[in-house]
Amino acid sequence: MRHILVTGGAGFIGSNFIRYMLEHSSCEIINFDALTYAGNLKSLKDAERNSRYTFVKGDIRSKEQVSETLRKFGVDIVVNFAAETHVDRSILSPDAFVSTNVLGTQNLLECCRVYWSLSPEDKHCRDYKPDVRFLQISTDEVYGSLGNDGKFHEDSPIAPNSPYAASKASADLFVRAYWETFGFPAVITRCSNNFGPYQFPEKLIPLIIYNGLHDIKIPIYGDGQQVRNWLYVEDHCSALCSVLKSGKSGEVYNIGGDTEESNLQVVRTILRLTGRSENLIQFVADRPGHDRRYAMDYTKLHQHTGWKPHCSFEEGLERTVQWYLANETWLNDTADRDFQTYCKTMYT
Ligand code: NAD
Ligand code: DAU
Repeated sequence: MRHILVTGGAGFIGSNFIRYMLEHSSCEIINFDALTYAGNLKSLKDAERNSRYTFVKGDIRSKEQVSETLRKFGVDIVVNFAAETHVDRSILSPDAFVSTNVLGTQNLLECCRVYWSLSPEDKHCRDYKPDVRFLQISTDEVYGSLGNDGKFHEDSPIAPNSPYAASKASADLFVRAYWETFGFPAVITRCSNNFGPYQFPEKLIPLIIYNGLHDIKIPIYGDGQQVRNWLYVEDHCSALCSVLKSGKSGEVYNIGGDTEESNLQVVRTILRLTGRSENLIQFVADRPGHDRRYAMDYTKLHQHTGWKPHCSFEEGLERTVQWYLANETWLNDTADRDFQTYCKTMYT
């Protein structure tokens, strides 16, 4: 049986991925998460009943915790979701982003290299235990911003504009370097904006729903015409599953949706779906370094694995809104005191 270490599994995409893999594979899943403000074990209540699921509280920056977990569970696949992920927080305080996203990823790579290598002391050794694999979950933001036309390809220049994007780009470069230098069996996926159940309400879509439910103004940065290439989270999970099965080491794969929506369009649709007034919209100062448009060309992934997204933006948004309305307790519990303090700092 395969043993997958999912780092950051208590976060938004990680928890959805664990649920997806428990349903669609026979793998054993070890969720390794430091439980920062963004980690929430309540997102995995159903998984706790599954004998193929284990939670380990741990930090990807700790050599001891990572190495011990790899050994204890005989891990042969690592999927690295663990990260500081919110662009606005990276503008308020970038240090944690360098620490977790860059140093944490490099620590994970090194611990895995040592554990999986057939001769860890030999820096020339490029032989590893059979079928081991490291999957780095990266983002379209490493490519920077697009104008009105075109899409990002895997060989588009890396041009990050926020401290968050710069930290993710640095992590990608370490993954690449481990492949080139040590023949370390790693793959990188770069995905566009995800949405769906269990997303922390600091991010646009759950923030609109949360603020709408509580009659709080919805802050729209600048003119609201920035465009994002939204992908329903389950489609991201199925893409990652395809990459684990048939992606090639040393490769980068773009993942994206088929829809491009402006922020203002997204807000208006959600207000309509939740029966709230557009008077809640409030235009505020733009995000510094705000990327105007993202769009991913996922032809390579489609050609290598046959993957394509299945859920349309409209259907995904309806499902998402219904989920938050049915899980208001999860939403309100998640928007705890820390979150209220963050909102005060961020929006006033
Ligand atoms: P999230 O913020 O919801 O979750 C991050 C998780 O990582 C949390 O559970 C947190 O506790 C954990 N974590 C943070 N620091 C850690 C550390 N030092 N050690 C162990 N665990 C730690 O994030 P998300 O939106 O689910 O994103 C997951 C990954 O996907 C990230 O790497 C992100 O860059 C990438 N990504 C996200 C999106 C998106 O739209 N959300 C799109 C593309 C790529
Ligand atoms: O593109 C992938 C990335 O998507 C991931 O790598 C990041 O981890 C994830 O946070 C997300 O980044 P964005 O900055 O695109 O997502 P966010 O939800 O923060 O914002 C989406 C858009 O909405 C963006 O153009 C900024 C805008 N926005 C956001 C917030 C929180 C607002 O106008 N007002 C807001 O209050």
